[in-house]
Amino acid sequence: MLTQVKPVSPEAVEEAARLIRAGDLVGMPTETVYGLGADALNAQAVLKIFAAKGRPADNPLIVHVSALTEIPPLVRAIPEAAARLMEAFWPGPMTLILPKADCIPDAVSAGLDTVGIRLPASEAARMLIRASGRPIAAPSANRSGKPSPTTAQHVFEDMNGRIPLILDDGPCAVGVESSVIDATGDVPVVLRPGGITPEMIRDVCGGVRVDEHVMRPLEEGEIVRSPGMKYRHYAPRAKTVIFEGEAQRVMETICARYDAAEAAGERPAILGFDEHDFGARTRISLGSVRRPQEAAARLFGALRELDARGETVALCEAVEATGIGLAVMNRMGRAAGFDIERV
Ligand code: TXA
Ligand code: MG
Repeated sequence: MLTQVKPVSPEAVEEAARLIRAGDLVGMPTETVYGLGADALNAQAVLKIFAAKGRPADNPLIVHVSALTEIPPLVRAIPEAAARLMEAFWPGPMTLILPKADCIPDAVSAGLDTVGIRLPASEAARMLIRASGRPIAAPSANRSGKPSPTTAQHVFEDMNGRIPLILDDGPCAVGVESSVIDATGDVPVVLRPGGITPEMIRDVCGGVRVDEHVMRPLEEGEIVRSPGMKYRHYAPRAKTVIFEGEAQRVMETICARYDAAEAAGERPAILGFDEHDFGARTRISLGSVRRPQEAAARLFGALRELDARGETVALCEAVEATGIGLAVMNRMGRAAGFDIERV
């Protein structure tokens, strides 16, 4: 199959919408990461997503809509806390887990009684959903186990030959996937941190819980509330370690580890902030230490770059785990198998 990449235009969106209606897959931009979209109400189309990604069948998909009015047929109820979150943060980088209606195929919900719904801020994403006239099921458009794609080029690397079309809307503004929030109960539970932070949710709902697995790995046999937590994600081939603590000590430790790795014949690289001095050592920038949003926007590209350059050891500076920083540390932590050293 020939995979075309087309900049967003009314014609390209119309072509993508035709593909969605015909039961095909489209690489679609959103403000978080690129998605791999299919008609959410067409089980055959949804199964193609799992095949193209190599995704385990027990990991459910998020259903994207272009307006609040499209939601009632997809769910059995909208609890009070969910309604408040919708009002406050949609359109935006937030997915709400709600009780699913019967029209949602089992392939989408992976057999669960719930469905994740998201109203994205990306104008291009909403244009595509509107033009298709269908809710669009879309996971991140990476092959399973690779970092989520934040450019159309990343999608092409992973999906070339597997899908007919990728809509290119430039780099994603947020850069980490949406916050996934279980909104089936009275108190929202953050299952995956993202652009809508626990602090923001508490301000709107009065309470919030953050699932304990956000910052630690799963133990053998443990039950999870969100199947995505089970899988090793975002893993670069390089052995990845995170260093946290006082900035100067972190820099010194990273430099010492770098030099030792190089002396041992490894190819080390540093994921570090622009303000910090690592001399002439290889550094992939996480942007400014004062603007954690830049680390969010750059992290997945940086992880892909490690592999593209054949680095064998990655030494990462930690980000403060508040605000969007919690999402960055969750993704970086998973890439490192939660190998985090306090120095
Ligand atoms: O920003 C995003 O959310 C992107 C863009 C494309 O919208 N999508 C995305 O989808 O990241 P995906 O499939 O890569 O991640 C969805 C996560 C998975 O961890 C999945 O297990 C969880 O959400 N999830 C989906 N439906 C769920 C449900 N009903 N209950 C619990 N967790 C669910
Ligand atoms: Mg994903």
